[in-house]
Amino acid sequence: MTKAVILGTGSFLPDRILTNAELEQMVETSDEWIRTRTGIGARHIAGSHEPLYKVAAQAGKRALDAAGLAPEDVDLLILATVSPHMIMPSTACFVQAELGTVNAFAYDISAACAGFLFGVDMASKYIAAQPDMKVLVIGAENLSTRINWQDRNTCVLFGDGAGAAVLSGAEGERGILDSRLYTDGRLWHLLYTEGPPSMNKDLQLPGWKGPFIQMNGAELFKNAVRLMEGAVKKLLAAHHLTISDIDLMLPHQANIRIINNLRERLAVPEDKVFINLDRCGNTSSASIPIAMDEVAREGRLHPGDLVLMCTFGAGLAWGALLLRW
Ligand code: UT7
Repeated sequence: MTKAVILGTGSFLPDRILTNAELEQMVETSDEWIRTRTGIGARHIAGSHEPLYKVAAQAGKRALDAAGLAPEDVDLLILATVSPHMIMPSTACFVQAELGTVNAFAYDISAACAGFLFGVDMASKYIAAQPDMKVLVIGAENLSTRINWQDRNTCVLFGDGAGAAVLSGAEGERGILDSRLYTDGRLWHLLYTEGPPSMNKDLQLPGWKGPFIQMNGAELFKNAVRLMEGAVKKLLAAHHLTISDIDLMLPHQANIRIINNLRERLAVPEDKVFINLDRCGNTSSASIPIAMDEVAREGRLHPGDLVLMCTFGAGLAWGALLLRW
């Protein structure tokens, strides 16, 4: 049966590293609090020479190189982000121009931390209809541009970066097996970023808090564990699989306590869960593709390995995806 297979992966992290020690100088926090409550030790921050489309294009270029493809080979470019370069046009169009994917059509999707899985799911459905299509899916964020650096509840959590995968159709066992994706818009208020105020005064929202991330961390935490657990269990059950069949789990990197809680509920051994949260912080839609690229390049993935990805974030949007590497 034809499946969407990953031909290559890539990622990019800006050089500038913001440490917990530096944050101690900026807000009332401590390295000890950040490490024990979140698992984060440092995060990468984009500079003024690194607008989102450049960060995304670097990851995309590395994925194309790994796949042995030229930019002209790409038929579709999907960019998942919640920190776009502009409101219009899509950041995907800027990435297209930067990369030279001149034969592709390109668009953004917005599903926050679930964005990459939503994008891969979409790519696999295009590929099911047209197996020779080459689809570049990128998850990229410059969340540092959406943070209130005086708000200790959020500024210690997020980081910048991008991850990417190129997919196309192939016969056989390998590829995207299935996914379960969900949203619940009733819980939008747990995590959101307002845009700039409307230029039409009649349409301005009352109580505008600025274009910054607003978050109810404790409520998100509870929902994250419960919702990812449910998505994973449904996905595995649909394929008559158990956790012991999984070779590697790539969870969204938001908080080490969320990951450990989920791991314990699902009974996943610690050595089967990849963590880069300590170095990268929460990079939202970029978190899973960066992790996937890192494990691929470290040689931790072998042909035939069963990889489980799971994620949650603003929307709420969440889901799980199974991939035979
Ligand atoms: O990708 C999805 C995005 N978001 C998430 O995944 C977030 C999920 N939630 C979390 O990761 C956690 O809820 C947080 C890390 C955000 C917070 O951890 P928590 O254990 O839930 O702490 P809390 O919000 O219950 O706050 C406990 C205390 C509060 O002080 P008081 O009111 O008890 O005096 C906070 O003001 O910790 C305080 N606090 C901090 N203290 C030092 C909050 N942020 C900080 C900080 N440094 N950076």
